[in-house]
Amino acid sequence: KKVGFIFDLDGVIVDTAKYHYLAWKKLANELGIEFTVEQNELFKGVSRKRCLEILLDIGQVKATQEQFDTWMVEKNLDYLAYIENMDSSEILPDVPRVLDYLKDKNIPIALGSASKNARPILKKVGLLSYFDSIVDGNQVTKAKPDPEVFLIAARNLQVDPEGCVVFEDAVAGIEAANRANMTSIGIGEENVLSDAHYNFKDFTEMGTDFIASLVQKNLA
Ligand code: BG6
Ligand code: MG
Repeated sequence: KKVGFIFDLDGVIVDTAKYHYLAWKKLANELGIEFTVEQNELFKGVSRKRCLEILLDIGQVKATQEQFDTWMVEKNLDYLAYIENMDSSEILPDVPRVLDYLKDKNIPIALGSASKNARPILKKVGLLSYFDSIVDGNQVTKAKPDPEVFLIAARNLQVDPEGCVVFEDAVAGIEAANRANMTSIGIGEENVLSDAHYNFKDFTEMGTDFIASLVQKNLA
């Protein structure tokens, strides 16, 4: 049996959640909506469209289709400005160690992200070549917590879902991985990601022996 590893992007490989937050906050404030860090938690792992729906809901703002589309574009342009000069210094700690370990063992690696900006971000930080498959917001029709993104990634890697391990920082992402029958690893606050099979604050807390044990377990 084969194993495969699937990484979420935002909040797992790079700390772009802060830029998403700043861009949403700017739009929110323009619309007279307060937008807190706590509310931003609901936006993690969720598509751009769904984020705007939630934001308008929070602010009880009604929008025409045209306004909705304009605001989506505006938010993304602001976000793109934030990430324009991103480089490898924004890779989260010890992510390269884990990627190198998996590459060294010839274990297939995929990206499973809701973002339509995933590929340019991986390119900017210099990690594109690690990924055997990139599944992102451009290919997925059903957003997390739907398991679609991870199931497509597993199929692309030619690994059974049961053999896949998923790293996620979002509640919706952990649910998606669990619904796909994969092993879910929460990266972040354990009390937020309590449905994950395993929890780590970040990759620095995750020993190489643990990753080796995941490989063994998912081979069984
Ligand atoms: C996810 C983020 O990875 O991508 C969400 O966690 C974001 O916050 C979503 O809304 C979509 O991203 P983008 O780059 O397509 O707007
Ligand atoms: Mg994420």
